[in-house]
Amino acid sequence: MTATLLPSSPPQSLSPNQSLTPVSAQVNTAGHLQIGGCDVVELAEHFGTPLYIVDETTLRQGCRAYRAAFERFYGGEVKILYATKAWNCLALCALMLQEGLGLDVASGGELYTALQAGAAAQEIYLHGNAKSAAELDMALEAGCTLVVDNPQELTLLAQRAAARQQVARILVRVNPGIDVHTHEYIRTGQIDSKFGIGLGEMGSVLQQISTLPQIQLAGLHAHIGSQIFDLQGHRDLGGVLAQLWTQAQQLGLALTELNVGGGLGIRYVESDDPPSIAAWVEAVCQGVKQGFETAGLPLPRLLCEPGRSLLGPAAVTAYQVGATKQIPPSPNLPQGRTYLNVDGGMSDNPRPITYQAIYTPLSAQRPEAEPIQTVTLAGKHCESGDLLIREARLPEVAPGDILVVLATGAYSYSMASNYNRYPRAAAVLVNAGQAEVIIRRETYADLIRQDVVPSHLKSGMLES
Ligand code: LLP
Repeated sequence: MTATLLPSSPPQSLSPNQSLTPVSAQVNTAGHLQIGGCDVVELAEHFGTPLYIVDETTLRQGCRAYRAAFERFYGGEVKILYATKAWNCLALCALMLQEGLGLDVASGGELYTALQAGAAAQEIYLHGNAKSAAELDMALEAGCTLVVDNPQELTLLAQRAAARQQVARILVRVNPGIDVHTHEYIRTGQIDSKFGIGLGEMGSVLQQISTLPQIQLAGLHAHIGSQIFDLQGHRDLGGVLAQLWTQAQQLGLALTELNVGGGLGIRYVESDDPPSIAAWVEAVCQGVKQGFETAGLPLPRLLCEPGRSLLGPAAVTAYQVGATKQIPPSPNLPQGRTYLNVDGGMSDNPRPITYQAIYTPLSAQRPEAEPIQTVTLAGKHCESGDLLIREARLPEVAPGDILVVLATGAYSYSMASNYNRYPRAAAVLVNAGQAEVIIRRETYADLIRQDVVPSHLKSGMLES
């Protein structure tokens, strides 16, 4: 089947994070949207909706873009970790490992999944500002690196490691005091943040570490925020961390690894203009090289943790269109409004209601048709604010049509819920005309699997 590029498709040279559609998106001979060689209308019919459709080519191109850029811009050793919080599941962990990436995990559950996906201990870094003792033990058992977030955690970890007669390999998460322009909820590097140890406190923490035989400090970590378009923060980071590196060395701590976190933004709407993966990597490398050279230090082993920029553009969510509702024009609403219902919403993508995130829709039947209307794409949940896109530009659509919302790969499935007891949606990985289920659709039986009814309430219940 021959296919043409979508009019809005990126030239091949565009970095995946700058592409609104998955890089394999095309229009096929039926005139339908095709991703990974699969007709999206057919995928929706076959697997049902809502359906996350994940493009393997975009994922692999993203990983390779990071790798190639580090080879070009950094003279030392590099390890790229996939920030699995963007979307943690067995298949995606396995794919990232196959691409040579390690895994950043942020909870016991993410760690468990990474291990089940076959990640070796040295590939895994465990984060979290409030890790439980059980999570610390789990990480020690696995032998992975822990990113320690605060002095109390350090004390607790040293105790747990001592009890197990083990040495914990750690990075310390520094709050570098770098403020970036992004949504308040996803900024982390500014001084008033729950994450990381402030620069003022780092001296005493390094001192404490130098007295703890159960702790092996491998290096420093910082993450300054997410969905970032301005590269200056990442350029500045190297210098701040190089100074701390010198401080640690003066205490006799032999550091090797510097982890600069993730944060590169993606294009959610046409007007977004994120820097390319290569530009982000260049800024990071410039900062680290300059900072370390100025401090007279050899280049560290450099780690980073992209999440959104790898997963975001790789997936779309397909929905089926339902009823419409017209609100006539009024003084408060001069244009009136058309609500267009779809069969998903805040349970499969909580980002619009949580962060007022804006997305772009596309008709799967007529991806090339000119938009002729502005509608509000309404989710199906019992919540007025469950609006997936407030101002969606669309061509003519009819009930039963399939719409996709673009760039939903990051932080949609991973933040999905069962609100209103909707079963969570399925996900397929598409490539070369094949679609493989990577997350099965939940069933109603799954929804009550963990429910327990005390015996005095059981009379009259259905036997299962
Ligand atoms: N490393 C650490 C320590 C992080 O906290 C994060 C994201 C990353 C790496 C990956 O950042 P990325 O490359 O994806 O920007 N739920 C929010 C995003 C929260 C980001 C949390 N940390 C959203 O949907 O926008």
